[in-house]
Formats: sequence, structure tokens, C-alpha cells
Amino acid sequence: MANSPTGDSVTDRLVRVLETFTPSRTVQTAAEIGRRSGLPRSSAHRIVGELVDAGLLERDDDRRIRIGMRLWELATRSSQALRLRQAAMPAMERVQARIREHTQLAVLEQDEALFLERLSGPTSGSNVTRIAGRLPLHASSSGLVLLAYGTRDLQERMLAGRLARLTPETIADPAALRRKLAEVRTLGHAVARGSIELVSTGVAVPVRDETGTVVAALSVVLPRDAPTSAALDELHRGRREIERALGVRS
Ligand code: PHB
Repeated sequence: MANSPTGDSVTDRLVRVLETFTPSRTVQTAAEIGRRSGLPRSSAHRIVGELVDAGLLERDDDRRIRIGMRLWELATRSSQALRLRQAAMPAMERVQARIREHTQLAVLEQDEALFLERLSGPTSGSNVTRIAGRLPLHASSSGLVLLAYGTRDLQERMLAGRLARLTPETIADPAALRRKLAEVRTLGHAVARGSIELVSTGVAVPVRDETGTVVAALSVVLPRDAPTSAALDELHRGRREIERALGVRS
């Protein structure tokens, strides 16, 4: 790829433009994209124009820019995420119908928990998770499961890094996190009470593929002091259903 005078490639610049979109910032002006991407104004405007022409970004009637349907189509088509989500949907619907709280599916992505799906009902409580949004591994129940069953490399990297304290309940001490990960492996599930927001408790279980590798976490978000045992039973039932759909023999 051709490099710019600053040495970054065309792909680098495309990624910088696309990464200005976040779960909570889905519409921007071209000038905002330029500023947030850190690219020279003319370069950002040209890239945005080319992406709009290609259908990967779209311009609305106020000339503001959003992610285009074409990008969604390409990204979703035949991805591993789609296969997992499809295998999980029937089980997730059953868990949500029985527990009547947020039910979600997350995978490990670049040292964070990335949420592929979230089902919520009218009576579900607070929840900070967004579909295609991320949560820190050490602070969420899904993240704790993905970390507990992740590689040694991943665990040591997270334990050596900064563990942001999002609430007074977040495990921000490496030794305490190490103990928590061992507990998750022993119990086969994670409970994170008030760890990401004080008012909620996340409960998560690992989902394995046919090789026995943990490929996802299935979780529910409950009001903080709600009992967890019924949710855990449903999560384990749901997890087994997803594993069967993924081809795991029981
Ligand atoms: C969790 O998985 O621990 C979790 C996620 C979202 C929330 C609260 C807890 O809003």
C-alpha cells in the first residue's frame, strides 16, 4: 500500500477513519471524523468521500456520515461471529424468556470482551453493554470467563497491565484477580457483583467448541442483589444447547 508523507499506509488511514465510529458515536460530520482520526483535513475528507462512493459509509440528508449498509453486509457475511451468533440465538432467547433479564454473548477480541448479541426485555434493569461494544476483561463477568479460560500469555499480559477501577467493587489488584480467575475455573462460572456498575451483577459461563476451546461467554445481567442460582442453571442449560449447535458431542 502506498504510504503518506507521515509514513502510514492507505489501510492505516482507512482504519483510523472507521475507528472514529464507536457504539455511542454512530453519526459524525466529515470535519469531526477528520479531527478524531488525527489525519490531515484534506486526506480525511478524501477518504470519507471515497468510502461514501463505495457504499461503506453513508451520508444522510444533513450530510452527516454513518457506517454504510454495505460495510455491515461485508463484515457480517460468513464471519465466525455470525456462525456463533446463529448457534446461540435459540438458547439465548430461552434464557431471556425464563430469566427476563439481559442475556448476552461475548467473544475475546484484542484483550477485551466484544459483545455479539444482547437480548433485553421491557422489565430488564440497567446494562452498559452494547451490541458490537466492548467491556474490559477484568471488570465484567463475560470478560472474567474469557480471561480465566484464555491463554497464559493473555492472563499474564492483563495481570501486568493497568487494571482500571470502574467502581469500588472492580478487582483492580493483580493478586486478587489471579485468585478470582482460579475461582472461575473451579466453579465453571463468573459472578461479577457491582464490578462495572454498582447497580448490577453479571453472571457468565464459558461456551466451548468441538475442540474444547472456550470460544464465547454467555451471560446475564441482574439487579445487584438478585439471587444468581436460577440464572446460573439457565445459563448452563443454554451453554450446552449452544455447544450442541456448534457440533460438540455430549
Ligand atoms: C457483567 O457482565 O458483569 C456486566 C455487564 C454489563 C453490566 C453489568 C455487568 O451493565
